[in-house]
Amino acid sequence: MSQILSKGFQHTCGCQSIWDFERPHWEISYDTWGSMTYLITGGAGFLGTELTRLLAAEGHQPVLFDLASPDSAPEGVRQVSTYVRGSVANLPELLAAMKGRSVETIFHLGGMLSVPCDDRPQAAFQANVVGTYHVLEAARLERVKQVIFGSSIAVYGRDLASRTVDDSTLERPNTMYGATKVFGELLGAYYGRRYDLDFRGVRLPSVVGPKSRTAHMSIYNSWAIEESLKGNPYVIQVDPEVRCPAIYYKDAVRAVRLLSQSPQERIKTGVYNIAGIVPPFSARELAAAVRERIPGAQLEFQPDARISALLSSLGQLCLDDSRAREEWGWHVQYGLTEMIEDFISEYSRG
Ligand SMILES: NC(=O)c1ccc[n+]([C@@H]2O[C@H](COP(=O)([O-])OP(=O)(O)OC[C@H]3O[C@@H](n4cnc5c(N)ncnc54)[C@H](O)[C@@H]3O)[C@@H](O)[C@H]2O)c1
Repeated sequence: MSQILSKGFQHTCGCQSIWDFERPHWEISYDTWGSMTYLITGGAGFLGTELTRLLAAEGHQPVLFDLASPDSAPEGVRQVSTYVRGSVANLPELLAAMKGRSVETIFHLGGMLSVPCDDRPQAAFQANVVGTYHVLEAARLERVKQVIFGSSIAVYGRDLASRTVDDSTLERPNTMYGATKVFGELLGAYYGRRYDLDFRGVRLPSVVGPKSRTAHMSIYNSWAIEESLKGNPYVIQVDPEVRCPAIYYKDAVRAVRLLSQSPQERIKTGVYNIAGIVPPFSARELAAAVRERIPGAQLEFQPDARISALLSSLGQLCLDDSRAREEWGWHVQYGLTEMIEDFISEYSRG
């Protein structure tokens, strides 16, 4: 939808298309306020920063809303975004960040991951449960059209009839983290029905990539590669036979973006499993692939009881993501070898 101006068009996203008569072409101008139609909670985090880069490459200037200080986001990311420091557990802070910005889509990626949730379940309730409720309330009050939720395969756990799980499998998590994600999925679906909010989400497996800072139950997938690149020894805290489903961060962020762009009439399921690299590789296979590409990598296994308990059934899951493929054309691009190759080149780029 656009409004006709004397010299061009004002689009609802806030950008203007202006006809340049001297060098006949359409000049798109992104007004610094009007173009900020995307808000990313957790915008300073691992996935939030990559999503910011992706949106910036499309010409957008997203608003990043994060508890962390602005310096935690890479400088290149701060330059292409607007950074607002605040907590999703604080509704007035979130509303203030959105005021006057005509946010159209919220990518809700802010919150606490598995190990921090288990360390501090009460804080996790505030960040992940109250925080998600606030994101949905802010969306309702500010008339945001769409919320994309970063859920997790940690919603699965107990009472699985089979190792293969699809989008209709019972979500019965073992962990605080998983419980908060189930809540987010269900409340989002309720807001969809009750307030006509376009709520969508992806259940991501373990996301692998450089500069992932938060320790979570499957962080060994990223840190085994990164520590080896730094020349440091690294202890993998799971049994070598654990096969935690994993995905490269570029694929994970592409899934989030693709889901948000898919026409509403194609979205039937709402929240989707994303299988990542299929079949899932074992921790032993990861270590072998890292040693092959980084000779001298010092990786050893010392399974840790707590990490093993957190991962328990997740480390054996086979995810069926056929609905994501059918409904919005999802497909994964990076296998294990391509992922390690690209990780190394991204890491060396700094
Ligand atoms: N990384 C993975 O392997 C993985 C897998 C499945 C799902 N996810 C989900 O994807 C999302 C992003 O994960 P990530 O890997 O980028 O994590 P991350 O820890 O790197 O980033 C999360 C960000 O959220 C911010 N945050 C925490 N509490 C907040 C609060 N109360 N208010 C505002 N911001 C807050 C943190 O400061 C951090 O910058 C999370 O919701 C996570 O549960 C991640």
